[in-house]
Amino acid sequence: MTVLVTGGNAGIGYFVAEQLAEAGAEVVLGSRDAAKAEVAVRVLRERVPDARVSWARLDLADLASVKGIEVGELDAVVLNAGVYLDGPERRETKDGHEMTFGVNHLGHFALTAALGDRLKPEARIVTMGSFAAKSAKLDFEDLQSKRDYRPKTAYERSKLAQTLFALELDRRLRAAGSSRLSVVAHPGGALDSLTPDRPPLHVRNRKLSLARIALQGKDDGARPAVRAAVGPDVHSGQIWGPRMFGLKGAPRPEPVRGPYADPEAAARLWAASVELTGVEPGFS
Ligand SMILES: NC(=O)c1ccc[n+]([C@@H]2O[C@H](COP(=O)([O-])OP(=O)(O)OC[C@H]3O[C@@H](n4cnc5c(N)ncnc54)[C@H](OP(=O)(O)O)[C@@H]3O)[C@@H](O)[C@H]2O)c1
Repeated sequence: MTVLVTGGNAGIGYFVAEQLAEAGAEVVLGSRDAAKAEVAVRVLRERVPDARVSWARLDLADLASVKGIEVGELDAVVLNAGVYLDGPERRETKDGHEMTFGVNHLGHFALTAALGDRLKPEARIVTMGSFAAKSAKLDFEDLQSKRDYRPKTAYERSKLAQTLFALELDRRLRAAGSSRLSVVAHPGGALDSLTPDRPPLHVRNRKLSLARIALQGKDDGARPAVRAAVGPDVHSGQIWGPRMFGLKGAPRPEPVRGPYADPEAAARLWAASVELTGVEPGFS
């Protein structure tokens, strides 16, 4: 079993990779930074001595890099990498797309297209959503936040776009009679300050945090995605998140409702994404 984890060099993505390796999967870390990827590979091998782990160059802010990704056949891909910018200035990807929408949604949309039949017939495509998407609404007149850029809104909308993409992909896979699965996972609230050390990749801020009552570390935040990628009783079109108020705890499926249950918006977003990236996910 081989799994590609985008953003596997840090944060939740690293722990997704570590837990998959512990479960015996071969993991490929998708990373835009060779030095960071090599540190992550080394740390993971220290934790899981018999791990089969490598990395592949992947910059989701550059569609040429996405299209050229060098990986073999995959049993699953975890579309985990993400940016949350906090500065007030609007930034763009190499292709001129707003950075948050471009990396989180368009980059992963194009990656799914680029992987194509390298995703095996029963492969699982796991998209990392967020509780932040629940209160978002897409603005189809301004998908790229050209008129009105606010970093928090751009992030929330990008995570809603990712979730709608995954659910639309599920509908398209079913309509085509495919056995591939498209599943959403989200980590709840996962803080660095509650995350165990993996030096030099991550060293915890030692301050005691009351946040642990309601939130969790990135190790536990990784569990819904790991369950969705390789666990039992997972079905295409599901959303997996943490049990306690969707913020912490063991993974469980959640109802698909609110802004997620909007096939019309999902189809419109799909068409816009094809236009913006010039590619369309599909399998023979
Ligand atoms: N933490 C939470 O509470 C939380 C809650 C809800 C959802 N999420 C979602 O969970 C995912 C992981 O979050 P996290 O907290 O682990 O974030 P993180 O620690 O900031 O890690 C983000 C990862 O994405 C990678 N990345 C960023 N831009 C990239 C690009 N252009 N190309 C390739 N990789 C890129 C980063 O690589 P570099 O190291 O090179 O920057 C890093 O590996 C994200 O999708 C996030 O939206 C997180």
